[in-house]
Amino acid sequence: MDKDFTQLDAIIGQYRGRPGILIPLLQEAQQIQGYLSKDVMRHIARETGIAASDIYGVATFYSMFKLKPQGRHIIRICKGTACHVSDADSIKDALVSALKLKAGDDTTDDMNFTLMEVACLGCCSLAPVIMIDDTTYGKLSPEAIPAILERYAFVEEQ
Ligand code: FES
Repeated sequence: MDKDFTQLDAIIGQYRGRPGILIPLLQEAQQIQGYLSKDVMRHIARETGIAASDIYGVATFYSMFKLKPQGRHIIRICKGTACHVSDADSIKDALVSALKLKAGDDTTDDMNFTLMEVACLGCCSLAPVIMIDDTTYGKLSPEAIPAILERYAFVEEQ
């Protein structure tokens, strides 16, 4: 967003003066760009009078809020107990390698994938498990990862 807050102002206008607005306001604001930039959070603070520190605190507390651009596909790798004892670490290593993620990065250079760790995907009997967008892949081996990722390959429009 190049400092054009028109869409954001319309959202803020819907919530102005109502109590307990911060979480739904941030959810709607995040839908504009797919994440909450510092500029967006500062603008919300200015327009609502909510302390910037409160906004930042909420945005960083809840995992549903993203503070930087996300890839087209979100890969969730389970690090829960059942997956951990089923060698989820080797699955993560295979993902990081196949995605060519640099140390500290969670999103590929082409913005096709974002990798994030989660506590449990709720299908422990399939450990080790990953989820790509809404699709679950279980009983994984590191060797299976490249073929799975290939299904989500980004093809630029000509
Ligand atoms: S521990 Fe991995 S799905 Fe539950």
